[in-house]
Amino acid sequence: MTVESIQKYKPKLHFAPQKNWMNDPNGLVYFEGEYHLFFQHNPYDSVWGPMHWGHAVSENLIEWRELDIALYPDEHGTIFSGSALVDWHNTTGFFPEKPGLVAIFTHHLEGGKGKVPKQSQSLAYSHDNGRAWKKFNGNPVLEHESKGDFRDPKVFWYEETRRWVMMLATGQTVSIYSSVNLIDWQSESEFGDNLGVHEGVWECPDLFPLKVEGSEEIKWVMFVSIGDNPEYNAGSRTQYFIGAFDGSKFTPEDDSVNWLDFGKDNYAGVSFSDIPKTDGRRIYLGWMSNWQYANQTPTVGWRSQMTLPREISLQRSGEGYKVIQNPVHELVAHFTEQEKIDQVLNSTGEGRTISVQEEYMKLELNIKKLNADGFRISLHHGEEQFTDIVFDFVKNTLTVDRANSGEVDFSDRFLDKQVLPFNNVENLQLQIIVDTSSVELFVNEGECALTSLIYPEKPCEKVSLFASDGIINIMDSYIYVPKGRQK
Ligand code: FRU
Repeated sequence: MTVESIQKYKPKLHFAPQKNWMNDPNGLVYFEGEYHLFFQHNPYDSVWGPMHWGHAVSENLIEWRELDIALYPDEHGTIFSGSALVDWHNTTGFFPEKPGLVAIFTHHLEGGKGKVPKQSQSLAYSHDNGRAWKKFNGNPVLEHESKGDFRDPKVFWYEETRRWVMMLATGQTVSIYSSVNLIDWQSESEFGDNLGVHEGVWECPDLFPLKVEGSEEIKWVMFVSIGDNPEYNAGSRTQYFIGAFDGSKFTPEDDSVNWLDFGKDNYAGVSFSDIPKTDGRRIYLGWMSNWQYANQTPTVGWRSQMTLPREISLQRSGEGYKVIQNPVHELVAHFTEQEKIDQVLNSTGEGRTISVQEEYMKLELNIKKLNADGFRISLHHGEEQFTDIVFDFVKNTLTVDRANSGEVDFSDRFLDKQVLPFNNVENLQLQIIVDTSSVELFVNEGECALTSLIYPEKPCEKVSLFASDGIINIMDSYIYVPKGRQK
């Protein structure tokens, strides 16, 4: 392993572990000026293995500092996914002096020959802002006689009943539990029979309230990730439900299936706990990979990165509701404008090419369709490699084609189509963030997102824009490059 080979593909704007393997984000919590990002981590290898909780902190959600490992395996098992929160009122008794952090996670114990693994929920707490952790001596706090898949606790405080509420992934359902002290748990309800997509095991649930934009109405949003199942091509992905919650039971509005992201690389996303009321945002981030090929991606000495943190909101759309997501506003300070694009593009003429020469960049485009049938953005990584973003205005789809983007042959599934359907509107708004080894796309102010890994030899050096079969007008559009490093 050379320094060069380790640096290859390392993101500049996204969080990746310094060394070895990472999967799901865990224990996302804000406390005393820091955002904490814990993560599923194998510190011995760059493939999945005995799980620990790695740890990183940030003051601005963009620049992360990796700290020592927070949680190590013990006699109850390795440390699978879970959440963290601030016990403000010392409900646990762990914090007689001042509030601190509690982690609620799954202990995973291999069952030995012919036996299924045992999964149970446990606690750990910290008096020093997550640097040192003590496991609770009464672990585990929640077990099940028969359920083999019994994991990924996400816990929040529900003020109306003055109880903690836990979402837990239990096979093909989400089980809801409640507790007054995080130690004694009582079963409340189970959600998911005959609802949503069941093509893989349900994992990493989350539930939170959001105000519907432009109203005082509150709806609850449930995220449920679905694991990879080789019988289906889709791979691992995340669905969401919108409904009502009464402290015990979640009732969805309808039986519609909603996808959080139309790319292959946004999984196990969950939201931050304890963001101050004065801020009021709901922010989540996901693991930017897919279980279909996560262990094979062509990085050396480290593996996987997180999506950018995204703020989520809720809009009424037609008869229903829709989750809107956009990168957190903290990202803006990391970019400076390189060039304004204001141009009519005709498919009979040449496209527009802009050179970039930076390690990462952002494109914000406003496109008036006029009469074109389509539009293409090519991100060039050197002479031979490019990633294509192709808009079809007849079908109203956007496709990210990474077939020529660089290293692709580590998995057949990496070349699966990534297609996003958008509403038939005259004006399209796009935000595209391109880092060393990823593309994140937000369409129409965050109505839809598409997240995709790429492994090009070089960062994006040139962007070209082409109209197909007609004319489009690109107005008020900008290309942004890293701040302070403009050439
Ligand atoms: C999701 C997941 C979780 C589990 C963890 C193990 O990607 O399978 O359900 O807790 O990863 O690393």
